Amino acid sequence: MSGTAQIGVSGLAVMGRNLARNFARNGFSVAVHNRTTSRTDALVQEFGDEGTFVAARTPEEFVVALERPRRLVIMVKAGNPTDAVIQEFAPLLEDGDIIIDGGNAHFEDTRRRERELRERGIHFVGAGISGGEEGALHGPSIMPGGSKESYGSLEPMLEKISAKAKDGDSCVTYIGPDGAGHFVKMTHNGIEYADMQLIGEAYQLLRDVAGYSPAQIADIFRSWNTGRLDSYLIEITAEVLSHVDAETGDPFVDVVLDQAEQKGTGRWTVQIALDLGVPVSAIAEAVFARSVSGHAALRAASRHLEGPSAHKLGEDEAAAFADQVEQALYASKIVAYTQGFHEIAAGSEQYDWNIDLGEVAAIWRGGCIIRAAFLDRIAGAYEAQPQMPSLLADKSFAEEIGAAQDDWRAVIATAVTRGVPTPAFAATLAYYDSLRAERLPAALTQGQRDYFGAHTYRRTDREGTFHTLWGGDKTEGES
Ligand code: 6PG
Repeated sequence: MSGTAQIGVSGLAVMGRNLARNFARNGFSVAVHNRTTSRTDALVQEFGDEGTFVAARTPEEFVVALERPRRLVIMVKAGNPTDAVIQEFAPLLEDGDIIIDGGNAHFEDTRRRERELRERGIHFVGAGISGGEEGALHGPSIMPGGSKESYGSLEPMLEKISAKAKDGDSCVTYIGPDGAGHFVKMTHNGIEYADMQLIGEAYQLLRDVAGYSPAQIADIFRSWNTGRLDSYLIEITAEVLSHVDAETGDPFVDVVLDQAEQKGTGRWTVQIALDLGVPVSAIAEAVFARSVSGHAALRAASRHLEGPSAHKLGEDEAAAFADQVEQALYASKIVAYTQGFHEIAAGSEQYDWNIDLGEVAAIWRGGCIIRAAFLDRIAGAYEAQPQMPSLLADKSFAEEIGAAQDDWRAVIATAVTRGVPTPAFAATLAYYDSLRAERLPAALTQGQRDYFGAHTYRRTDREGTFHTLWGGDKTEGES
């Protein structure tokens, strides 16, 4: 038996609820289901007038309410809860039905689920959805992976409910087979971590070196947001910094415990990058910075460690320094995105996903947490040169970084001499300098490896693999 609801949403915590409302507000009839039925009732009671909802009390009722092929969005916690829900629904479904996982699942789990369900004739779509609660309601950026056929069935609906970029394009595209969508969402979050860390370091420098107050720094971020750094994260940074704690009257940022938490997607991005051999140092430093912040006992036990004497800049110097920090932030940000796109390219190659990097940049222009004006240019760069080995190969980004580099270096040098930790700024500059370097100390590393372990090396002047008989009478031999 099948019903008339065009889409179903199961799991009605805030993200699921808002997504269901988004479908309904866009004219789709939505079956809604939650393990605890009071949530379903509350949704229909509070928002029933926004569109057509069909409340289902059981998995059976939910499945029966849907038109065929059935489209079921599950919005539950990643990991075991997702498997449990799939096990509950799968036996009730028929050939060609589609389960869409809109959570932050690990892409390897998505690959497994897609394979298992495909064997049962069911499509499984791992869809990354970014934009938080507001995005889910008003238009997120959506990164669906799975079979092309299932995307065809979902496309018109996803295009409607997704965010729209400034040029009106929907922020959704078919990413690729099986885990591709969740891989791209994971990397989106990795970049999000790096971007947030870089912003945090800029803030710390403006506070500790330039001597600005949180409210003054909010104004600086506001002015940056009118230029090339224009982005959601810069915008909300200004909001957070200008917020005053109602209870104490202190800047909000001063009453919040400085220990950053994480749910795991940034860490996954780094773990997978290690497996793929992709240097994502900005993302790694961002993850490590969060873990350093959380080691309260270690930090407390380290207060005796000496640093340079603190002294703040004068007013004119501070304003000039703020301009330099803008240059540093922009250059570092380009590098962080470069690393993230490299990881997507490597994942795409490893898993045969054929991901279009330009399209990824294009659907990140609206709705998602890292939405930023400069993604328009990244999209354009990849569109012009789809096989570009790195974003830094794009002439206009390379020129911009070139123009920023003196200030970028000066800011990091200042941070080092003043003892302000800027791990992500420093990592991005080191990555840039590593790529530029004509010779890297890797040759020495190879020599050491050959010395202690006969691991062999290659030469610059001829083909082959060589080993030196260290301390012996022969200097080298081909092996
Ligand atoms: C998004 C966000 C979302 C979530 C992060 C937070 O794209 O909408 O990235 O997925 O807010 O996962 O991650 P942490 O809790 O790890 O900072």
